Amino acid sequence: MTAGTLPALYGEDFAADPGRHYEQLRLQGPLARVEIAPGAEAVLVTDYQAALDVLRDTHTFSKDPRPWPDTIPEDSPVRSVLAYRPSVVFSDGDTHARHRKVIGESLGLLGPHLLQNQVADAAATLIGRFAAAGSADLVTGYARQVPLRVFNTWFGVPDAEGEVLADRLASMFASGADAQSATAELNEMIGALVADRRRRPQRDLTSYFLQHPAGLDDAEAVMQIAVTFSGGYEFTANLIANTLLHMLADPRYDGSVYAGAMTAHEAINEVLWRNPPQSTSSGYYVRYDTTFHGVALEAGQLVLVSYAAANGQSSPGGATDAWGASESAHLAWSAGPHSCPARQPALLIAISAVEQLTSRLCDMRLGRPATTLPWRPGPFQRSLTTLPVHFTPWAPKPPPPAEE
Ligand code: HEM
Repeated sequence: MTAGTLPALYGEDFAADPGRHYEQLRLQGPLARVEIAPGAEAVLVTDYQAALDVLRDTHTFSKDPRPWPDTIPEDSPVRSVLAYRPSVVFSDGDTHARHRKVIGESLGLLGPHLLQNQVADAAATLIGRFAAAGSADLVTGYARQVPLRVFNTWFGVPDAEGEVLADRLASMFASGADAQSATAELNEMIGALVADRRRRPQRDLTSYFLQHPAGLDDAEAVMQIAVTFSGGYEFTANLIANTLLHMLADPRYDGSVYAGAMTAHEAINEVLWRNPPQSTSSGYYVRYDTTFHGVALEAGQLVLVSYAAANGQSSPGGATDAWGASESAHLAWSAGPHSCPARQPALLIAISAVEQLTSRLCDMRLGRPATTLPWRPGPFQRSLTTLPVHFTPWAPKPPPPAEE
C-alpha cells in the first residue's frame, strides 16, 4: 500500500468511531501502516504488549527525529505535534531527565489544597454563569474553562490572554490547516511571559521553571512551559468533557448524573480505559534496522503508539467491577520515561471539576443523542467540540446579609 491508500487516522469518518477503525487495524497484527494526515505516513502500534515495549525500550526507540530524513510534508498539520522542538518530549537520556526534573519539581511546589480551592472557585464562577439558563454547552462553558483558569493561575497568564492561548492550543491539537501558525503564536506569547518573569519573578510556575537549579535558558524555558501548558490544559479539558459525557450517556445513570451509580473517580477511570484524552502518542523513531513483534522496521521509521487501541485490546473484559481493580494498567498516561509526570494534579482537577458540577446540577440530561456529538478530527486526541445539556434552572443563593 502507498500513502493515500493506507487506513486514515484523521477525518470525520475516523473521528465519528475510532474504535471501529482500531478493530480493523488490529486485524493486520500488532503494528499497522497508517496515514496520519494527507501524505504523512506512520507505523501505528495497536497491541498492548507491543505498545509497552515501544514506550519502555529506549535502546531501540528514540524520541529525537533529527538524525533521520523528515518524511512529513512541509505544510502538514501534524507537524505541530511531530516537528522537532527542544522540549522534554523530543529528547532522550540526560537532556530529557534534566527538563523533566524541572517540570516535575516545579509542579510539586503546587499544594493539593490550593489546587482544590482553585478548581472550586473556577467551577462556582462558571456554573453561576449558566445555572439559571437551564441549558449549557459543557465543553465551551465548563470542561475547557476550568483547567484554563487553573493553568492561567499556575503560570501567571492574565485571563484575557489565556482565552487566546486556549484557542491557539485547540487549533494546534486539531491538526487543521492553521495548526502551524497557531504553534508559532503560542510560543511567542509564552516567550513574552518568560521575559517578564525574568525581570520580576512571582509565585507562579513560570517563575519556578526559571528559578530551578537546572538553570534553563529562555529558549529552553519557553519550550518546557509550552509543552506543560499545552498538553496539560488540553488533555485535562478532554478528560473532564469525556467523563461528563460518559456519566450522562451511561445507562447505569439512567440519564441522570445524580443516580449515584459511580463516583467521579470511577467514571474517570473508565474513560481513561475506553476514551483516553490523548489517543495516540507523539513520535518514536527506530534507532536501527530491526524486527519488532514480527514486523521489519527500518532505522528512522516513525512509530506511533495508539493508547486508545492498546487499551481497547487489553481492557478488562468489559466487566464493570474489573475496571477498578486494574486501574493503573491502562496506557492513558503513557508508560516508560516519557509517561505523564502530572497524573496527581491532573486527576485532582478532573475529579474536583466533575464533582462540583454534578453535585450542583444533578438532573442534567444530554441535549442530543450521544452518538451524534461531534469530535475534533486529528489522530492525537479524543476531544468533543460540544456537549449540550439541559437541567432544572437553578440560582445560586445570594450570600447572607452581613451581621450588624
Ligand atoms: C495537570 C495537567 C497535566 C500536565 C501539567 C501534564 C504534563 C505533561 C508533560 C510535561 C508531559 C511530557 C513528559 C515527557 O515527555 O517526559 C506529559 C506527557 C503525557 N501526558 Fe500529561 N499532563 C497533564 C495532564 C494529562 C492528562 C489529563 C492526560 C490524559 C489522561 C495526560 C496524558 C499524557 C500522555 C499520554 C503523555 C505522553 C505524551 C506522549 O505520547 O508523548 N496528561 N504530560
